[in-house]
Amino acid sequence: MSTLSSIQKEITSSLAIKLGLSTRESLIEAKFILEYVLKRTYAQLYSDRSIILLKEEELYIRNIIKQRLQKKPLGYILKEWDFYGETFLINSDVLIPRQDTELLIDLIFKEYKKETQINICDLGTGSGIIGITLARRFKNSQIMLTDTSKEALIIAQENINKFKLKNAKTLYSNWYSEFPEVEFDLIVSNPPYIDIDDPFLKKDNLQYEPEKALFSGNHGYADIEIIVNNARDYLKEGGQLMIEHGYNQSNLVKLIFENAKFLSIKQHLDINSKIRVTSGLV
Ligand SMILES: C[S@@+](CC[C@H](N)C(=O)[O-])C[C@H]1O[C@@H](n2cnc3c(N)ncnc32)[C@H](O)[C@@H]1O
Repeated sequence: MSTLSSIQKEITSSLAIKLGLSTRESLIEAKFILEYVLKRTYAQLYSDRSIILLKEEELYIRNIIKQRLQKKPLGYILKEWDFYGETFLINSDVLIPRQDTELLIDLIFKEYKKETQINICDLGTGSGIIGITLARRFKNSQIMLTDTSKEALIIAQENINKFKLKNAKTLYSNWYSEFPEVEFDLIVSNPPYIDIDDPFLKKDNLQYEPEKALFSGNHGYADIEIIVNNARDYLKEGGQLMIEHGYNQSNLVKLIFENAKFLSIKQHLDINSKIRVTSGLV
């Protein structure tokens, strides 16, 4: 028989010892597992740490840990992950949402009023986290979520349904190949940007995620170049392109924006003072 407190200790120590997670990481994962299995918020769970778990709850938790110790990412075991305060459905066809991507949302929320009526495109939407978070905020705007992975678009659509959104639609498109005759006020993207030939890349940690969500040719810049070099054709005059990129890609990404004749190019820092987003106007 385990109490909440004892099972939490067991989860954190096995994740730390057997997977080498930091204390913080193992505590976060333990929190997600307990919330998920016991279907209560952490605040509710935290208020009584002596709760005794039901046999089936304990078995369920041990099964999750067993899979996790085989290095399967927790998001793919639970089939959901949090982004910007909401829980999204995910599976191994989509990237697990990264906290880094919340910077794009912060910047957009700061710049555009809630009531704004604009056309937005989320290019390479994966599970739909960016487009859907924007659609929930900008109820008077229309959001198009695109991807070249049909499997990803199924998950994005499930998330659109989950949040009962009427102003978000998915589109299968190889970047701009299938774009309709609509001009956008804002195109936002978190494209694949990891250099597949990076000698320092720990591919082990990424082996479960879809390759086309992560890696890009030309030292990680191939997809960024396509997106930036063609965005003008799909943006209104004064429209904006905003993309996430790697912390060490800011100089070249700026150059790509400059060569594509973007105006008012801005680069934005994350909480670690690294430039992770570049934007520009046409
Ligand atoms: C880094 S993931 C980002 C997913 C999601 N937007 C997020 O932030 O979690 C990049 C996404 O771009 C999609 N993608 C890759 N190549 C593409 C292409 N040629 N056209 C459209 N989408 C593409 C991938 O399928 C993947 O979903």
